[in-house]
Amino acid sequence: MADIDSMLSRSVSLLVFLLILSFFGMQFSVVAVTDSISQGRVVTRSDTIVSAVKTIVWVANRDLPLTSSSPALTINNEGNLVIVDGRITYEVSDNALSQNTSAILLDSGNFVLRNENFDVLWQSFDYPSDTLLPGMKLGYSIKNKKLWSIRSWRDVDDPEVGAAELKMDPKRPNELFLIRNSELAWQSDGAWREGRFNLMPEMISNYTFNNSFYTNENEAYFIYFLYNSSIPSRFLIDVSGQL
Ligand SMILES: *[C@@H]1O[C@H](CO)[C@@H](O)[C@H](O)[C@H]1NC(C)=O
Ligand SMILES: *[C@@H]1O[C@H](CO)[C@@H](O)[C@H](O)[C@H]1NC(C)=O
Ligand SMILES: *[C@@H]1O[C@H](CO)[C@@H](O)[C@H](O)[C@H]1NC(C)=O
Ligand SMILES: *[C@@H]1O[C@H](CO)[C@@H](O)[C@H](O)[C@H]1NC(C)=O
Repeated sequence: MADIDSMLSRSVSLLVFLLILSFFGMQFSVVAVTDSISQGRVVTRSDTIVSAVKTIVWVANRDLPLTSSSPALTINNEGNLVIVDGRITYEVSDNALSQNTSAILLDSGNFVLRNENFDVLWQSFDYPSDTLLPGMKLGYSIKNKKLWSIRSWRDVDDPEVGAAELKMDPKRPNELFLIRNSELAWQSDGAWREGRFNLMPEMISNYTFNNSFYTNENEAYFIYFLYNSSIPSRFLIDVSGQL
């Protein structure tokens, strides 16, 4: 019982304060929002009513679940995004070179930290959770020391890193690998050719999707866009490792 209780409280507190992006409006819901109005409750111009059905596409601190009831996301004196939880400070970003930064959640779902010239210092798209959104990269950049992979949740209500990961390997560029429980479960079988990976015929671009694969000696990545950006779309690796 104790275990279940602590698991529940952990998951709940995680979900309360993290970035929860909804596909029904891409709502940044660190601030409490509601899906209903009860008698006597007033909804003013600055309030938002958001449906209870949400799609969580990114989690800021999946490797450090926090348990208190009052964690807060803020920008510290160095200009970095941090989650403060009592005496714990979790650095979401660690590379602000300016103290005058601000963060913005873009319509694309990218949560971006910028300096006063609006240069991007850090972006959530560089730290995928289990979801690839249009405009996110799946691959790697050797120069920027980035590995953009998607990794499943541990359980349907636990966003900690789970057993399945879809990634590229700089040693074997041009291929996608699905790792499950540290073992190779699937690979895309050969390089991207004629607009798709060999074993993924459904990936070919059409009037709805523009799928691309870029590669050079420094980086390789898969990226996709929708011609109509109002159509919600995501590419997800679920708890069982299913894409
Ligand atoms: C910080 O940047 C804003 C623009 O985003 C600017 O208006 C403000 O003057 C800057 N503050 C300092 C201390 O540089
Ligand atoms: C375009 O391709 C996607 C898969 O990549 C598929 O789900 C969709 O049905 C296709 N749309 C059309 C109009 O062919
Ligand atoms: C598909 O997206 C790429 C960007 O990755 C862009 O350069 C290209 O023009 C797009 N293709 C079409 C047909 O719009
Ligand atoms: C884009 O998608 C939205 C939502 O499905 C739709 O209302 C709109 O008509 C579409 N626009 C075009 C140009 O097809």
